[in-house]
Amino acid sequence: MNHYTLPDLPYDYNALEPHISGKIMELHHGKHHTAYVKNANSVLEQLDEARKKQDFARLAALERALAFNLSGHILHSIFWKNMTSKGGGTPLGDFGNAIQKDFGDFQRFRKQLTEVASTIMGSGWAALVWEPIGKRLLITQIYDHQSNLAQAGVPLMVIDAWEHAYYLQYENRKTEFFEAVWNLWNWQDITARYASAIQLNIDIGEAA
Ligand SMILES: [Fe+2]
Repeated sequence: MNHYTLPDLPYDYNALEPHISGKIMELHHGKHHTAYVKNANSVLEQLDEARKKQDFARLAALERALAFNLSGHILHSIFWKNMTSKGGGTPLGDFGNAIQKDFGDFQRFRKQLTEVASTIMGSGWAALVWEPIGKRLLITQIYDHQSNLAQAGVPLMVIDAWEHAYYLQYENRKTEFFEAVWNLWNWQDITARYASAIQLNIDIGEAA
């Protein structure tokens, strides 16, 4: 009963050099992301077993493990597609206008997202999400892969702030890594995610 699979990278391991080394990408995708996929599938199997046996003694731990590993799988899958060797610059069109509307201008948006990544205590992510109730872009600071999130936010653009994302190359200079990724953003991918996310209708009445 395998539900999740490791996606291929849309580029070679060394394609994002010099900003992210090929060795980091190889370990990050081939070892870390692989483990999240494997563990998410394992938890689903264990939940299936628990239901069959009607033995829910480990349920809380399994739910926690599912949230952690599945969120890790989803965020890494987005992160890979968010980047390209031909990235950087600034987004235009409706998405560029939405950045201006919700953050003032692109530089303020960039500063906030970079600071959110830099100030994570421990492991986590900085994420740009579409919040479908208020119909606005928000930046969130995610602990581990799953905590500190407002429900229903759709991740559009994410920065991995776990040490495994940068330490081999940048050591303790993590802010250099968070600046380097701005040379890699694939605005075409992020804009397409935005265009898709704004179609989402969560019907909870006049909540915003
Ligand atoms: Fe990671």
